Amino acid sequence: MKNLREMETSDIEKIVAIIDSHDEDDAEAAEAGYREMGGTYDSYVYEVNGETLGVTGYSIPPGCEQTYWLSWTYIDEEQTNKGHGRKMLGEIIAHIKGLGGRKLFVKVSDYIDPEDGAIYAAALHLYQELGFEIEITHKDFYDEDEAQIILGMRLKDKETLDIENDDNNIQFDGVFEISETEKAYSFSWHDEGEYPLEIEDIRVGINAVYDEDARAIFLSFPSNITTIEAPLLEAGFRKTNALKDYYDDGIDENHYFFYF
Ligand SMILES: CC(C)(COP(=O)(O)OP(=O)(O)OC[C@H]1O[C@@H](n2cnc3c(N)ncnc32)[C@H](O)[C@@H]1OP(=O)(O)O)[C@@H](O)C(=O)NCCC(=O)NCCS
Repeated sequence: MKNLREMETSDIEKIVAIIDSHDEDDAEAAEAGYREMGGTYDSYVYEVNGETLGVTGYSIPPGCEQTYWLSWTYIDEEQTNKGHGRKMLGEIIAHIKGLGGRKLFVKVSDYIDPEDGAIYAAALHLYQELGFEIEITHKDFYDEDEAQIILGMRLKDKETLDIENDDNNIQFDGVFEISETEKAYSFSWHDEGEYPLEIEDIRVGINAVYDEDARAIFLSFPSNITTIEAPLLEAGFRKTNALKDYYDDGIDENHYFFYF
């Protein structure tokens, strides 16, 4: 990688200042994440002539086959629109391809700042220019009138695999507010439940987050777990769309939502 090097803990302050040049809340969330991880795993600093101008990186979701998410990706506000973002993203995408990446995802908000306007519009433009396609838009995700847009990009040709359905029973084991959102909730779950999930189990979850003043619930499941969709729809959830080939070629991640 020409302009990227692995981020170190001594870079955190500078990187948080770069993120803060765009958005204070993102800077706070990113700093908490870097500190929580006890380091800066899989984050990369973008440097030109020894000067730190940006940050990017990736994370690997559990249970997936060569799937990657882009993590915090920023160029210092004063240095934007000079081609650095395109170059930095080109380098990290090539690096992830080199690691054997099959599919790469990234999420962006459509937030419109009262003073600065659509602060993520350049990112959305650039991602699409580089070959990402919009796969899902979750309306009112981060807050009312602030959507989450998820884009995906293939890094390898698709393989045809024999997909077996997973008939294990989903069981919910808790509810939590989704990070970076205002009152959007999700349910945690495991897939070794003792009995098939029933509409009543889903209602228990809906009531639990209603008591927390939730605005919405967002859930997602592998498409080869076939027992979950019918009770979810019956309980009032609707299907958004799917992240294609998320778990492996032929196994999508199906997304569902419920608005109060
Ligand atoms: C996204 C970001 C990294 C791009 O960095 P950059 O150095 O400005 O990138 P480049 O100069 O290579 O390219 C910017 C592109 O955005 C376009 N652009 C700039 N402002 C735009 C706007 N308001 N709407 C649409 N496109 C815009 C430019 O025309 C350019 O595209 P082009 O090369 O096709 O002409 C930078 O803007 C940034 O840090 N943004 C805030 C953080 C962010 O949104 N991160 C991603 C989500 S976590």
